[in-house]
Amino acid sequence: MTTAAATGREAGRGTGRARVAASILDADLGHLAHAVRRVTVAGADRVHLDVMDGHFVPNLTFGAKTIKALRHRTEIPFDAHLMISEPGRYIEEYLEAGCDSVTFHVEIEEAITPTLKAIRAAGRAAGLAVKPATPLSALEPYAELLDIVLIMTVEPGFGGQAFMADVLAAKAPGARALLRHKLFGGEVHVDGGINRESAEFAGSHGVDVYVVGSALFVRGRDMGREIRLIRALADEGYQYGPNHGEPPIPHDRMATITSLPKHLAHRFMAEVEATGIPVIMLRGDGQINPDGVRDYDLLVPASVEAHVVVTHGASRDRLLAEAAAWRADLLARQG
Ligand code: DX5
Ligand code: ZN
Repeated sequence: MTTAAATGREAGRGTGRARVAASILDADLGHLAHAVRRVTVAGADRVHLDVMDGHFVPNLTFGAKTIKALRHRTEIPFDAHLMISEPGRYIEEYLEAGCDSVTFHVEIEEAITPTLKAIRAAGRAAGLAVKPATPLSALEPYAELLDIVLIMTVEPGFGGQAFMADVLAAKAPGARALLRHKLFGGEVHVDGGINRESAEFAGSHGVDVYVVGSALFVRGRDMGREIRLIRALADEGYQYGPNHGEPPIPHDRMATITSLPKHLAHRFMAEVEATGIPVIMLRGDGQINPDGVRDYDLLVPASVEAHVVVTHGASRDRLLAEAAAWRADLLARQG
């Protein structure tokens, strides 16, 4: 049985917009399984796995085999951050290890497109990371293949370095623009120096995922409280930055956009989902139709509700008219 503590729900996961990805780089590397359990119970949204090859960066950590061994220790997603020179050579191993997303660096010398395509083909999220000195324009040729843009706010290689605020401020708008093709689910990650001092600033630049390493592994510190604090500060920054004073909408809040008879609800769901936005179809408690079946409710993530209304409103109105005609026809036939 999964307890609330084991899933981290107890610690408030899913209540806000900001997501914390716990980097276990600064954990006791002799007890990584314990570290993964610890960050899960503390309420981290993801585990961020820093893979280093001693070549792309002047440090060595762990690889796909270790990630695979850790995979069954938690149910929260695994974000792999590959700081290695040849991600293409090893990509299948990382996918096979159970990484939910794989992000690697645009500064490598090998071809980038095939690796992004391999990640996508495996149904995982694909990301590119930029070192502080690398301009975001380096990512432009790959924009269409990106689910994640990771902005490094320290030099890759080590935890515990100071946050580079200027780097984030300069790159955040461009990172969002690179994900323009994704109506839902595109993520800007910030990695390096995120803690209670920098979280609000990062939030005010609209970051989605906050990688936090050394701030979580301070002796004597309550890790759960630290995660909640960073998430709350990031959400506050978002509210008073890009969201015009409005509190951020949690990712898991859904909004009903219409109710339709089953056959038409299916059609609308397919149409919206084709644009990359997930739709939930629920048997509603609304209008009962002449065939004795109630209309179905269609729900989309509240964060994209307005967008769906703009792009699919006309089609929704057509389907509602079609539903009315269908009901009238059924009634007439029933006499
Ligand atoms: C650095 C890594 C980061 C690092 C973050 O190369 O990519 O993920 O572990 O650690 P802190 O939060 O200590 O900067
Ligand atoms: Zn990292």
